[in-house]
Amino acid sequence: MYETSLERMKVLVIGDVLGQAGRRALKSHLPSLIDMHQVDFVVANGENLAHGFGTTEKVADELFNLGVNVLTNGNHCWDQRSFLEHIDEDDRYVRPMNFTRFAPGRGWTVQETTTGHKIAVINLIGQVFMGSWDCPFEAVDQAMSEIPDDVSAILVDMHAEATSEKMGMGWYMDGRASFVYGTHTHVPTCDEVIHASGTAYQSDIGMTGSYQSIIGMKVEGALRRMVQRLPERFEAAEGGASIFATLVTIDPSTRMAVEIERIHIPPT
Ligand SMILES: [Fe+2]
Ligand SMILES: [Fe+2]
Repeated sequence: MYETSLERMKVLVIGDVLGQAGRRALKSHLPSLIDMHQVDFVVANGENLAHGFGTTEKVADELFNLGVNVLTNGNHCWDQRSFLEHIDEDDRYVRPMNFTRFAPGRGWTVQETTTGHKIAVINLIGQVFMGSWDCPFEAVDQAMSEIPDDVSAILVDMHAEATSEKMGMGWYMDGRASFVYGTHTHVPTCDEVIHASGTAYQSDIGMTGSYQSIIGMKVEGALRRMVQRLPERFEAAEGGASIFATLVTIDPSTRMAVEIERIHIPPT
C-alpha cells in the first residue's frame, strides 16, 4: 500500500464538449461546480467545441474564461485550419502525443493551480478503430520521461474508441498517473475505480452536450447516413445539454488518487 498525507487537491475532468449546446451548459454551471466542490484544476476535451468539429481560439477562450485550465484534443484536432497555427502559441492546449512528432502542438503540458501545485496533462489517441497513429504506450513513456519531477498530479486523456485499449492504458499507468480516463465515445461509463497502486480510472467521461442526438449530432442527418447511406453533413445537435464530468481527489505528496466521483447535471 502506498503512503498518503492529509493534503488534498481536487481535479474536475470534463469529456468532449459538443458545440454551442455544451458550451452553454458549462457557462450556466461550471463556475458554481468549481465553487461548490472547491475544485483546484479543470481539464476538458476540446475536439468538438466548434460546432462539433475542432477548436478555435474564440470558443476555447469561452472555456478558459469559465475556469478551464487545459484543453485536450483528439481525432478532430485539425478540423479548423486556424487551430494549426494557434496551437503552438498557447501551452494550455495539448493534442495526442502519439499523432507524430512532426505534428504542430505538444503532447503534454504542465500548468499551475491557484495554490501553486503543478499539474501535468498528457493526451493520447488509441490505435483501435481510430486510424493509424504511433503507439500510445511508447508515447506515454516518452511523456513521463520528459515531465518534470515536481508535478503534484499527472492526468492522462486517452482519446480512444475501444474500452479494452483504454483499460490497458489505465493498468499500464497504475501507480504512475493520478487519473487515466477515456474520451471520444461521447457516452459516459460508470466503471470509475481506483486501481491497486493508486491510479484512478474511468473508461469514458461522457459528452457535455445534447443527448437528444446521435453522439452529439442531429438525429435526422445521422440516421439518413446510416439508413439510406446518403452523404449527409453532420450537424451539431441543439437544445438542452447534459454535463458529465468526474471529480478526482488527489494526494499531491504521492500524486495518487484517494477518491473518484462522477457528476451529472441534466439539461435545464
Ligand atoms: Fe469527440
Ligand atoms: Fe474523437
